[in-house]
Amino acid sequence: MNSTIGAKILMALTGFILVGFVVQHMVMNLQLFAGPEALNSYAYNLKHALGGGLVWGGRAFLLLCIVTHIAAAMRLSGRNKAARPSRYAYKLDTQVTSYAAKFMLGTGIVTLLFLIYHLLHFTGGVVQPEHFHVVDAEGRHDVWRMVVTSFKDPVTAITYVVANIALAFHLSHSVTSMFATLGLQSGRYRPMLDKVGPAIATVVLLGNVAMALSVVTGLVHI
Ligand code: HEM
Repeated sequence: MNSTIGAKILMALTGFILVGFVVQHMVMNLQLFAGPEALNSYAYNLKHALGGGLVWGGRAFLLLCIVTHIAAAMRLSGRNKAARPSRYAYKLDTQVTSYAAKFMLGTGIVTLLFLIYHLLHFTGGVVQPEHFHVVDAEGRHDVWRMVVTSFKDPVTAITYVVANIALAFHLSHSVTSMFATLGLQSGRYRPMLDKVGPAIATVVLLGNVAMALSVVTGLVHI
C-alpha cells in the first residue's frame, strides 16, 4: 500500500478514536452540573474499575493513538512539502489546500499544548496543586471541587475556552476529511456527512465551554 494512503488511514482511524474519547469525556464531565456526588463517584468508579486496569489500559491506548496521529500528520506534511513544486499549475487550489493544512496543523498544536497543560492540571496536579489535593466526606478525590475551584479563576476558565475553540475548529474540519479518507464522502450522502464534523465540534465546544463559564459566572458554585 502507498505509504501516504497508509498514513492517511492511520490518521483517520486514530482521529475517529480520539473524537470518540473527546465526546464521551465531555458528556461524562457534564455531571459537574449534577453536583459533587455524581462526578466524584463516577471518577472513583472509573479509577477503580478492574483494579485500575481500565483507566491504565485506556491511558496507554489513548497515548498510542495520539502518538500515531501526530506521527502520521508529520509524515503527511513532510510528503506534501516534498511533493510541492516551486511553481503551481493550479495556484488557487493548492493555496486553499495549504491554508487548510496549516490551519489543521495550528489548531492541532494548540490542542496538543492544551492537553499537556490539562493533564498537568487535573490528572497530575502539578498546575494548581492546592486545588488538586482535596478529598470529599467519603475520602474520595474531590474532582468536583477541584474543577470548580480551578474555573473560579477567570484566567484558567478563559484558557479552557480558547483551547476548546481551537479544538472545535480542528474537529470540524478533521471529521470531514476523515470521511473523505475512508471514501464515505461521495454520492448522495455527502451533504449530510459534511454536517457531521461541524455538528460534533459544536456540541463538544458548547458542553466544555458551558462548564468553564458556568463556574466563572457563579452559576455553579461551592
Ligand atoms: C471543560 C472541559 C474539560 C473538563 C472540565 C475536563 C475535566 C477533566 C478531569 C476532571 C480530568 C481528571 C479525571 C480524574 O482524574 O478523575 C480529566 C482528564 C483528562 N482529560 Fe479532560 N476535561 C475537559 C476537556 C478536555 C479536552 C478538550 C480534552 C482533549 C483534548 C481532554 C482530555 C483529557 C484526558 C486525555 C484526560 C486524562 C484521562 C485519564 O486520567 O486517563 N479533556 N479531564
